[in-house]
Amino acid sequence: MWRIILAFFVPKRWRTTSYLLLLLLGTVFIFVWIAKLRSRYNIIDFGFRYEETDVWLTIDEIGLNECPVCFGHNKSICRGILERNVKLQHKNVTVTSEHWKPRAHSLWNDERISIKHFGNASEFYKIDNELCSLIGKINSPCRVREVAWNSFLNPSSVESAIQDTMECPSLRLMTKLKQIYSTEGVQQVNHNNMLYLTSTLYLNQEPVIFQLFPAENGWPFPKLYGFCGRAVVVEDAGLPLDLFLSEPWIERAKLALEVIKIAKRLTSNQEHWGLYLKEVSMGNFAVSTNRTVKLVDAEQVLVVDLTESNVTAEKKKTNNQCANTEVKCLSFFPIELCQGTIRDQNYYAVCRSVLADIGSRRGLLHSPPEENDFKVMFHDALTECVEAKKIRRTEAIELVMGLLQSKINQANVK
Ligand SMILES: *[C@@H]1O[C@H](CO)[C@@H](O)[C@H](O)[C@H]1NC(C)=O
Ligand SMILES: *[C@@H]1O[C@H](CO)[C@@H](O)[C@H](O)[C@H]1NC(C)=O
Ligand SMILES: *[C@@H]1O[C@H](CO)[C@@H](O)[C@H](O)[C@H]1NC(C)=O
Ligand SMILES: *[C@@H]1O[C@H](CO)[C@@H](O)[C@H](O)[C@H]1NC(C)=O
Ligand SMILES: *[C@@H]1O[C@H](CO)[C@@H](O)[C@H](O)[C@H]1NC(C)=O
Repeated sequence: MWRIILAFFVPKRWRTTSYLLLLLLGTVFIFVWIAKLRSRYNIIDFGFRYEETDVWLTIDEIGLNECPVCFGHNKSICRGILERNVKLQHKNVTVTSEHWKPRAHSLWNDERISIKHFGNASEFYKIDNELCSLIGKINSPCRVREVAWNSFLNPSSVESAIQDTMECPSLRLMTKLKQIYSTEGVQQVNHNNMLYLTSTLYLNQEPVIFQLFPAENGWPFPKLYGFCGRAVVVEDAGLPLDLFLSEPWIERAKLALEVIKIAKRLTSNQEHWGLYLKEVSMGNFAVSTNRTVKLVDAEQVLVVDLTESNVTAEKKKTNNQCANTEVKCLSFFPIELCQGTIRDQNYYAVCRSVLADIGSRRGLLHSPPEENDFKVMFHDALTECVEAKKIRRTEAIELVMGLLQSKINQANVK
């Protein structure tokens, strides 16, 4: 085709040269185009990587033999995760204080699922040890399921288990929990279910949070499918948020808005629960292909009943006692939070641990646009959200949202 066009316009003696020249121009064009694409999606090294390996989960790994000292036992869920290979996701470096555990991904009835908390996590060793020491087997394995019935997991002590393990227990919380674990139609909760509940409270409270605040009712957690031993199967809510750190700022701004909306929902809602983040990191959020953001780790969430308080709802602030450059730090005062007034803990938590640059760690909103005063204004708003020195955090977070929204609107118009 090109040869024919060239033959028409170019005299015979120049044809080879012109042909080569065109080829050269084409190559240069493609290189420039690739370079441009690369600079748009600049891959910056943030010092970590997620890695995936194929594995088969075993009955031992998911702690099925330890039941009923486990989260539960749903046969169809077990069949789904034990009979196929799953992709195990690791993070190559995990900051010590960051609560991020490997999780496996798989398919179950055509749903993309995420499998969390396998049997060998440290919290399971702790409870197994406590149970075994009751029969004099300290630091040596025993059959925990035989010990369980006569231990502190005893199903008759659900109330005391809740008192022992939840930081701000309330009557409403207890009633709600017992309702979830009681079999339909029967008022009395069956004993096996009760043991699942007490075990879960001592093992890891995340499954309790997922059940108390289900995704189906609009809570920003992944949908819970069920349990198989010490494994929890939830919807695969997407990729960890820190994988989006190299995206253009405007894309990160949209994700940041979603994160702030989650913080708001957890702080004030129609059901009058305060769900406060004790600790959070970017890896605790997941982004789905349609850009929905969810909080996929609920282990570090404190549940407060906001109807219990007699204090008139004066919004109080969390005192930031972290040094400016201290990366792994978040102030958290359970006694204050348990008093049951609406607090700004979640705004503080997402601003400090997810959105802002702290010390050497880049936040989700790093490198904002340099235009006019925007960068300065934005930096000030985000700093106030972390420190709350001049204005309230609720005001600071509104400012941050306003600035993000204005840039997103501008980008949409262009
Ligand atoms: C983790 O991955 C990062 C980025 O690819 C790399 O620089 C770092 O050396 C890795 N760390 C470990 C402990 O493998
Ligand atoms: C269980 O622990 C072993 C050794 O500590 C580790 O190699 C393995 O990946 C863990 N399994 C899971 C499913 O986390
Ligand atoms: C097992 O889990 C599935 C999916 O969540 C659910 O539909 C089913 O009712 C559960 N089975 C039992 C016995 O709880
Ligand atoms: C987006 O994806 C999530 C998870 O895959 C799903 O729960 C949600 O319904 C989807 N939202 C929309 C608007 O499609
Ligand atoms: C709130 O006040 C009522 C009576 O006015 C009292 O019975 C209740 O214990 C109080 N609750 C708290 C959490 O102080």
